[in-house]
Amino acid sequence: MKITYYGHSSFLIETQGKNLVIDPFITPNELAKDIDVDSIPADFILVTHGHGDHVADVERIAKRTGATIISNYEIVTWFGQKELSGHPLNHGGKSTFDFGTAKYVNAVHTSSLPDGSNGGDPGGFVIWNEEKSFYIAGDTALTMDMKLIPMTCPKLDFAILPIGDNFTMGYEDAAIAAEFIECDTIIGCHYDTFGYIKIDHEAAKKAFADRGKALILPSIGESMSL
Ligand code: NI
Ligand code: MN
Repeated sequence: MKITYYGHSSFLIETQGKNLVIDPFITPNELAKDIDVDSIPADFILVTHGHGDHVADVERIAKRTGATIISNYEIVTWFGQKELSGHPLNHGGKSTFDFGTAKYVNAVHTSSLPDGSNGGDPGGFVIWNEEKSFYIAGDTALTMDMKLIPMTCPKLDFAILPIGDNFTMGYEDAAIAAEFIECDTIIGCHYDTFGYIKIDHEAAKKAFADRGKALILPSIGESMSL
């Protein structure tokens, strides 16, 4: 499974021959100016919630690639009004796609769309297939609901957690989240993009190491195999 970081909470995950784009926010992100959004491959675009820093490039990528948008009902309906195809989920529900199974799980956050439309309630995804099982938390506080993930999903190989504080949990709480979800390999996201969420990388890594967890902070544009 190959994972490429595009900055903020944006990733490309290549698995089972499919390209999954996660929360694309690339063209407005000065830190990601070297990423060519028009060359990103996409079969599916997974959207955790409606905020602009997660949906900014969904329409542009979906129009070019014809990718299927997977999100909650309200967000898929909103993109449907722009003639973009999607698969709606809602909290606690899962569905099997040709890349594997995706379950939409709880997040504690808010969710409005860029034009003020109701973005439904925010969520995250747990995805599993024959290669791996992983959790994309989306924007969230630390929440006891995370303990449901190891009870209801295959054992996680890795998780993508927000660590930037202010709008989401900070790295101290995210390290506790890693324990709740029983996962040792964490990729950090939602940090450094704006002044409010700039963090000390070494302090963040130490917070995880103190709990026996590895925190990976990829460079923007960097790919890794997990
Ligand atoms: Ni948000
Ligand atoms: Mn956000």
